[in-house]
Amino acid sequence: MLENMTRILNMAKDNKYAVAQFNINNLEWTRFILEECEDIKVPVILGVSEGATKYMGGFKTVVNLVKDLMEYLNITIPVVIHLDHGSSFQVCKEAIDAGFTSVMIDASMYDLDENIRITKEVVDYAKERNVSVEAEVGHVGGSEDSANHGILYAEVDDCVRFTNETGIDFLAPALGSVHGPYHGDPVLAFDRMEEIKEKCNIPLVLHGGSGIYDDQIRKAISCGICKLNINTELQQVWALAVRDKLKNDEEVYDPRKIIKAGEASIKKAIREKVELLGTRHI
Ligand code: 13P
Repeated sequence: MLENMTRILNMAKDNKYAVAQFNINNLEWTRFILEECEDIKVPVILGVSEGATKYMGGFKTVVNLVKDLMEYLNITIPVVIHLDHGSSFQVCKEAIDAGFTSVMIDASMYDLDENIRITKEVVDYAKERNVSVEAEVGHVGGSEDSANHGILYAEVDDCVRFTNETGIDFLAPALGSVHGPYHGDPVLAFDRMEEIKEKCNIPLVLHGGSGIYDDQIRKAISCGICKLNINTELQQVWALAVRDKLKNDEEVYDPRKIIKAGEASIKKAIREKVELLGTRHI
């Protein structure tokens, strides 16, 4: 069942667990994630970046792909099609108009006032269409960024003002995590996370979920994290398995066999992550 993210993350908040966002890259990825989460019987958030959207052929292609796969595979779990890091009102609008059930507007590259202005515009458009909205305060770094991964820690007061003035459903405060592989150990600001949870009182999202240690993830959930974003980790386990297949089977040339070589690894990683998050079965 396709739905927005509100019910799923509010349930996670009330019951102190988290739900995974797994990013999709293609048909096979989408299928592996849907099949495994259906098997475990947990809700899932399919994260789709702008880059992945372009790669797959646009927002409508993504929506139709997910919908048709769900029908073909008899998927009964709650599924969210969520735009990951929408960079402008226009991009979020396009995703919403195409049938995405949830969007993230990421205007964290602007100052707080401008971030609030753009985010509010998205919230106003999304609310009328029953689409949920996530937004970022501070700046989640990337391993490609230079000093300190480009992390800008979110300030508590900024988060409170941002939440109140925009009316967002979920907040992604940057608190030390990064996209892509970590160089060194992740350093998360748990005290601040907890303060933001208390003062904002909406489900919090942790980006850069790959490479964070299990005990840090458990602690983050106790500090208000209700959604954990995972992209790199699935790509890494898939690549490892496919590399192995190509090395050990020099005769293989059918792309279906090559791509499928990573299926078991992806599914195993999904199952482990869902168990770690304590996602409630439905
Ligand atoms: P990772 O690169 O750590 O998997 O993070 C993914 C993410 O946060 C997508 O928004």
